[in-house]
Amino acid sequence: MILLGLNIDHCATVRQARYREEPATTGGAVEPDPVALALLGERAGADGITVHLREDRRHIQERDVWRLRESIATRLNLEMACTPEMTAFALKLQPATVCLVPENRQEVSTEGGLDVVGNRARVQACVDAMNAAGIKTSLFIDPSEAQIEQAAQLGAPLVELHTGAYAHAYHTPRRAAEFQLLRLGCVRAHELGLTVNAGHGINYVNLTEVRTLPHLHELNIGHSIISRALFTGIEEAVRELKARLNP
Ligand code: PXP
Repeated sequence: MILLGLNIDHCATVRQARYREEPATTGGAVEPDPVALALLGERAGADGITVHLREDRRHIQERDVWRLRESIATRLNLEMACTPEMTAFALKLQPATVCLVPENRQEVSTEGGLDVVGNRARVQACVDAMNAAGIKTSLFIDPSEAQIEQAAQLGAPLVELHTGAYAHAYHTPRRAAEFQLLRLGCVRAHELGLTVNAGHGINYVNLTEVRTLPHLHELNIGHSIISRALFTGIEEAVRELKARLNP
């Protein structure tokens, strides 16, 4: 069984489009509420809830993260930049897992994997702090051998292989080559004792191929589920995704 991490960032994106300036005290008038969405998503079968607390706070806010921490019944996976500020926040929050991602102010969404080779010392400091606190760290990396081997050396228990390049190439001749990179990446990460997750750009169509990757533990999916939920509601969108994930 491959698990589903439901990324709810884009629910907060819709809220912020209208209510960016509203104080938190506006309460129920501030819609849509990502926490309410998370609870419905869990009820429909999501195995965990993922949020990215970005430095620019463009979608998820700190208050959302604390409310999720108090109310969800599954696991909270906090995506964050590898900075001392976010490390301190995660140590206070104590989520089940932290997923370290690169952050670039200009990007619409996360664009590439974290370069754990080029940022070894910074990543090591964060992984060490999380390991000491009993929080599992996942490193969001491109499926390259060098990145995977470095991730294992850093002592993080999990990697999340970046499926964005594959998703982008899905309707092009490069798809097979990108899929092969992911396949080899999964095998190598597993050989090194890492738990293998994957995410970014996965949808109801490319999922049928992605789910055949070896050793997959969990997929983190956001945009396509939130998009479908506009038409079907979140529970149906999650149920349909899960049915295709583990047919
Ligand atoms: N995994 C990571 C590390 C991400 O940063 C994101 C969102 O950018 C996702 C998964 C989910 O991607 P998507 O919204 O394309 O499903």
